[in-house]
Amino acid sequence: AAPRQDTKSNKSPVTVAHRGASGYAPENTLAAVSKADKLGFDWVENDVQRTKDGELVVMHDTTLSRTTNAESLYPKRSPWKVSDFTAKEISRLDAGSWFSDDYAGEKVPTLEQYLRHITKSGQKLLLELKAPELYPGVEAQTLRELRSEGWLDSSHLKSKLVIQSFNANSVRTTHVLNSGVKTGFLGNPKVSELDSYAQFTDQINPTHSTVTKDYVKAVHARKGPLGKQMQVFTWTVNDASTARTVDKAGVDGIISNFPDVVRDATGG
Ligand code: G3P
Ligand code: CA
Repeated sequence: AAPRQDTKSNKSPVTVAHRGASGYAPENTLAAVSKADKLGFDWVENDVQRTKDGELVVMHDTTLSRTTNAESLYPKRSPWKVSDFTAKEISRLDAGSWFSDDYAGEKVPTLEQYLRHITKSGQKLLLELKAPELYPGVEAQTLRELRSEGWLDSSHLKSKLVIQSFNANSVRTTHVLNSGVKTGFLGNPKVSELDSYAQFTDQINPTHSTVTKDYVKAVHARKGPLGKQMQVFTWTVNDASTARTVDKAGVDGIISNFPDVVRDATGG
């Protein structure tokens, strides 16, 4: 057998469908999650924010404009911030037509609806707390909702859930609130900072252009708070050549709008 490389395990990296299979269906909708399922992907990534009346919803941008018809339905509500609309108002939006007429009428899911959907399909969730600095207490609220939907039991904690954020304080808070939850930090801290990140995050999740073999090796040399080797999940990899490059660098996961393209390139 060929000798094992430093950082590369024998396994292919896990492929995660970014915002669902968002190259094929409107991002962060149940249709995008179902599309990922149909393509054979269990891991999906989403983004969670909070409405004016305190409901958690699945939405990437902090405004509704790009991925819904909010501007035409609510013309006087500029700048159409998620946090300025109630859950009921958001439930009236069309989150599919911007992508294609085939998805007209697709809704912005609440986190509850989203979790129920992926519980049924048996999928796994890389949940991003998006702009948590805008939503004080969102970490505890998200954990409460995950718990009430059965997502904090031992099988989910072991292999079906990661909570990540670009906001290190939010990742730390999530870890402090529930030390059994696997966490990820979105970014690429310096190698000299990795020991302090290892106190509260199990994954370091950098943009693909910053991934090198040495960096992955430095992350892998550390254990995260769950006591396991820290992992690297990189984003957003949408072409075969980049997928092969980050695979060679030894990443554990690849987050993609076109997960089938990544799978074809890496076997993951
Ligand atoms: O999961 C990684 C990726 O989602 C982070 O960037 O902007 O797509 O949320 P963004
Ligand atoms: Ca995201």
